[in-house]
Amino acid sequence: MTSLRSQAPAFPAHDMSPRVLLGPGPDMVHPRVMAAMSAPLLGHLDPDFLALMDRTQHLLRYVFQTENRLTLPVSGTGSAGMEAAIASLVEPDDPVLVCVNGYFGSRIAEMARRHGGHVDTIERAWGEVFSADEVREALQRRPARVVAIVHAETSTGALQPLEDIVQVVHEHDALLIVDAVTSLAGVPLRVDELGLDVVYSGTQKCLSCPPGLSPVSFSERALEKLAARRTPVPNWYLDLSLIMKYWEGNSRVYHHTAPINMIYALYQALALILEEGLDSVYQRHAEAHASLVHGLADLGLEMLVDEPYRLPMLNTVVIPQGVDDVSLRSRLLTEYKIEMGGGLGPLSGRVWRIGLMGHTARSENVERILLALGELLRT
Ligand SMILES: Cc1ncc(COP(=O)(O)O)c(C=O)c1O
Repeated sequence: MTSLRSQAPAFPAHDMSPRVLLGPGPDMVHPRVMAAMSAPLLGHLDPDFLALMDRTQHLLRYVFQTENRLTLPVSGTGSAGMEAAIASLVEPDDPVLVCVNGYFGSRIAEMARRHGGHVDTIERAWGEVFSADEVREALQRRPARVVAIVHAETSTGALQPLEDIVQVVHEHDALLIVDAVTSLAGVPLRVDELGLDVVYSGTQKCLSCPPGLSPVSFSERALEKLAARRTPVPNWYLDLSLIMKYWEGNSRVYHHTAPINMIYALYQALALILEEGLDSVYQRHAEAHASLVHGLADLGLEMLVDEPYRLPMLNTVVIPQGVDDVSLRSRLLTEYKIEMGGGLGPLSGRVWRIGLMGHTARSENVERILLALGELLRT
């Protein structure tokens, strides 16, 4: 038999030159987070690891601004949190309302359909946001048990106000699922004050971790709904009623092997946020965004989203007439080692997406991208 080993091409050690990640995520990771990831492995039931899990939950509650008992990182990226939320709350034939104003709203609707929900959607143009009246009209037309909405639509750069919408949803006796994958720790998101029922996020955005975990938080109302299901959660891996038994209580029950080093990373990243203080973290994002928008205007570039609804951590910039999107981004990557996102779906070729998330939201990165864009647009 021919030896595969002798035919093998060279496999050099993986040694990529670093990039400045200024796209829609993952973004830059703090060196202390990278260092934490390389700490020695512990067993997933080691008492020291269980103590770290408890502290991680504590810090997650701080970042979500909640007392919710079920607040933990689901194993998997942001979509795992999305699927855990849908799988927990949507049962076959349940009426569900999903607000779609971008790529991720559509993903939620698709997941809810796959879980057997009767999904109704309301739509807004990409870059716009929903009013509470639109949600009210939709629920009057067709009541729903669950409503889902994206807080920070990464595909468009729009920030969805939630205060009035959550009230409307509760008046109609439904539960609200909020996608906070991009917003958590970048703009205020006070889960208890707002009364949100289920919120999920991802580690690779404003939490400044590598991708791999999806923090979720469930209110008591959401837990009651989970406990009262007519059918078991159809997705065993994401069944939070089982996962909770590993994350709380005196005797922990194995569900699946925890991604130990990712939890080290998340813990360190959350500790950094606590150290800086949430309000200062929000302020740093707002300042980086303001100086970016100012600098872009000096270059003659316009933002897609109207000012009050702009996300600070994800900036959608209209590509000027006559500029080749793909070739500019490719020169930005090869010559300046800077990654910037392109548009998705209907915004493909129409916008650039500049991320200033978490550790990345600093003036040196704003200056870097403005300098590079200025040079590239001149040549
Ligand atoms: C708003 C939003 N929701 C959900 C997701 C899905 O997260 P992931 O790609 O980590 O699975 C993303 C990813 O960018 C997102 O931006």
